[in-house]
Amino acid sequence: MNWSRRDLLKYGVFAMPLAGVGCIPRRPEARLLSSLAPLPAPFQTPLPRLSVARPIQISADTDLYDFTVRPAVARILPGLTTQIWGYDGNFPGPTIEARCGRRVSLRLRNQLPVPIVNHLHGGRTPPEYDGYPTDLILPPGFSIDHPHDPLARISAGEYEYMYSNDQRAATLWYHDHRMDFTAASVWRGLAGFYILRDPDEDHLPLPRGEREIALLICDRSFEADGSLRYPLRDPKLVSPPAMLDDYMGGVLGDVILVNGAPWPRLEVDAVRYRFRVLNASNVRRYELTLDPVPRGGLPFIQIGSDGGLLAAPVPQRNIRIAPAERFDLVIDFAQFKTGSSVRLLNTLASGRTGEIMRFDVTKSAPDDSAIPAKLSDIPIPSGDRALITRDFDFSFSRLSREWLINGKPFDPARMDAQPKLNATEIWRIQSDFSHPVHLHLVHFQILEHGGRPGPFDSGWKDTIDLAPGEGASILMRFEGYRGRYVFHCHNLEHEDMRMMANFEVI
Ligand code: C2O
Ligand code: CU
Repeated sequence: MNWSRRDLLKYGVFAMPLAGVGCIPRRPEARLLSSLAPLPAPFQTPLPRLSVARPIQISADTDLYDFTVRPAVARILPGLTTQIWGYDGNFPGPTIEARCGRRVSLRLRNQLPVPIVNHLHGGRTPPEYDGYPTDLILPPGFSIDHPHDPLARISAGEYEYMYSNDQRAATLWYHDHRMDFTAASVWRGLAGFYILRDPDEDHLPLPRGEREIALLICDRSFEADGSLRYPLRDPKLVSPPAMLDDYMGGVLGDVILVNGAPWPRLEVDAVRYRFRVLNASNVRRYELTLDPVPRGGLPFIQIGSDGGLLAAPVPQRNIRIAPAERFDLVIDFAQFKTGSSVRLLNTLASGRTGEIMRFDVTKSAPDDSAIPAKLSDIPIPSGDRALITRDFDFSFSRLSREWLINGKPFDPARMDAQPKLNATEIWRIQSDFSHPVHLHLVHFQILEHGGRPGPFDSGWKDTIDLAPGEGASILMRFEGYRGRYVFHCHNLEHEDMRMMANFEVI
């Protein structure tokens, strides 16, 4: 391999230790982008309650929602304002409450200066509504000069997505998915919860109502004037690549937001609460723990995962959550003294990003909730029915400076796998680096993850976090719909830098 001095300078090789022989640039690590605005003191802002979206029309089998996606001004840091992009002007977007078996139609009107695409993450969705990265909703009057995908469904101004909710109850989320710009658009605010419920879950005595709280955790950075800071190459977010070369390993923020507020606090009664936790960060991983740790050392009872309730509750010392993963957790605040404060920490970081939020245990109260020993029915995973095994390697190309799957960059024109409808397959995935791998359409079970199933692998998953050099085997059935879908790394900068591929259910 021959690298000119110009290349080496361009890639900043001289500033980096070299990997192996020859002048080969290293894999780009995620980089911290520090805020220029002063960081607020922690635990001052009350945890925001996320607004619940109201349907504009309710028919026998469908709830119709109508969101305008537009710039808006948010108050995130004290004394400053922040321009965000939001669903109906909200960051996080309004929570959609859905019922299994009842359809949701979501009409999005694009009033941003750039195209949008919406993906319901974890949804079993027909391909035309899944938010394929080139299925753009253009802003009114916007034209694209080089449509790179002849199959793209381009709409002008608005589009109506239909979600059949023909799947089990789960904590889903929706977010932007535009090819090359997902990272920057989600960073500006395009993400929200979609909570799917069913009668089986309703009948369980789990904490509910005021004691069931969704927590969207993400990191962001801010300019001195309070605006969001992101290392954009094109400030208009139109010509790729979106981010500066130095940040293609991922962008880490230094402000931790929960439901859009920096390091918030929540007053709780000394009873059980259910938290649906989503890591909506571009790349940051969290290892959640409580401080103090209650007696017995197991602060969390995990009851659910990406794809809904587990078969049985799992007490956990800590919870490792990668981008796009969801964990459904019960915390019993009766384990703490009333009047005490309990911090939710991230043990993977130190300093300010090592803190997330604080619970203030205000008073005792009656608690009629319980965590049943059996939560739901989940088949024991068995590879026996899988007729096809496929291998996918997620790794960085030092030559092309892109993140690749099986050595290839994302190309809408190339089909990388064609599973048959209703076929069960095993996919073996291998990773060079940290990659949270996500498949659209299906939920899978983890057969093996770095040698055996990991402590956070039970239940149905749609995202699996691979550590550097790790491999995993996942098992799934391609149910629901025929058509074209993507799978990709959910480190959003990796995704935008091409770590995405196609499968077509045939
Ligand atoms: Cu959460 Cu393809 O995405
Ligand atoms: Cu990745």
